[in-house]
Amino acid sequence: MATSSQNSSFTAGPPMDIFSNNAGELNSVYTDVVGEHDLMIVGPGVLGRIVAEKWQQEYPNSQIYGQTMTTNHHDELIKIGIKPFLRDTKFSHKFPYVIFCAPPFPTTDYPNDLRSAGLNWSGKGSFLFTSSTAVYDCNDNGLCDEDFPLVPIGRSSRTDVLLKAENAALEAGGCVLRLVGLYNSDKGPHMYWLEKGTVESRPDHILNLIHYKDVASLSIAILKKNLRNRIFVGCDNHPLSRQDIMDAVSQSGKFDKNFNGFTGTDDPLGKKIYNTKTRAELGWEPKYQSFRQFLGLTD
Ligand SMILES: NC(=O)c1ccc[n+]([C@@H]2O[C@H](COP(=O)([O-])OP(=O)(O)OC[C@H]3O[C@@H](n4cnc5c(N)ncnc54)[C@H](OP(=O)(O)O)[C@@H]3O)[C@@H](O)[C@H]2O)c1
Repeated sequence: MATSSQNSSFTAGPPMDIFSNNAGELNSVYTDVVGEHDLMIVGPGVLGRIVAEKWQQEYPNSQIYGQTMTTNHHDELIKIGIKPFLRDTKFSHKFPYVIFCAPPFPTTDYPNDLRSAGLNWSGKGSFLFTSSTAVYDCNDNGLCDEDFPLVPIGRSSRTDVLLKAENAALEAGGCVLRLVGLYNSDKGPHMYWLEKGTVESRPDHILNLIHYKDVASLSIAILKKNLRNRIFVGCDNHPLSRQDIMDAVSQSGKFDKNFNGFTGTDDPLGKKIYNTKTRAELGWEPKYQSFRQFLGLTD
């Protein structure tokens, strides 16, 4: 990561001062040194770290900050060039690029976390929230795209939280990227099911996948366009049933464990998601065009 003195785009100012509370946690950061491509990643987990790596390649002089729930991973973040801070840290300056890619579950007020992230955005570059395609109201294995009707507020607490968080991001002028299931070689639905062995869900439920690296390239494509109030979808355009996914895992011969099967019969079906509009507008294509291709199989 570049130091502030290496970055010609930074405004002049004193070095960063960090203030700790009595528990020794970082809670205030004052800096007059903000580069035009500095990036704040709220939730520098699996996706956020790939975004950081690609952003650093794209803008070698930028500084990358990561806001987390706990200090548990701060040492790891520092090693990969991300400056870590706790979630309630107050900054003296706003950031030109903010990506909120933290999951909804560890926090008690996800929409408010989005509002706080929006307040840390300068309004100059981009603010992006990675949401979920769970907000689309389709559970009959039917076709679904960017414009499909949404689950009405009040039907499900899970989608209520996501939709309220999306609204907070949009109200701040940000963009929303609705994502399908994320995977890589050691994380994703296939690994979860392999671990369980037998899964009490129906095998014919269609789901949709996208590789973590492709979400990172798509997120950066959106961030770089400096758009406002837009909604995109991230998927690989190769919907598969649960059974298809685990058949591919077995055919690939790349996994040690054996999967026994799905035993459900009457749980809801899924949807087949396509993001033709997102691709056309951004000129983006995934590197991993399908889960089968990722495993080295033909489609
Ligand atoms: N996985 C999927 O299939 C899927 C599907 C649709 C959408 N998404 C979305 O995709 C995004 C990326 O997912 P991921 O798998 O990369 O996430 P992840 O690895 O689980 O992210 C974990 C990171 O987020 C931090 N964090 C959690 N809640 C936070 C909060 N409220 N404020 C600040 N930091 C917080 C954690 O802090 P600590 O280090 O302190 O733990 C950790 O650094 C998320 O927005 C997720 O909702 C995922």
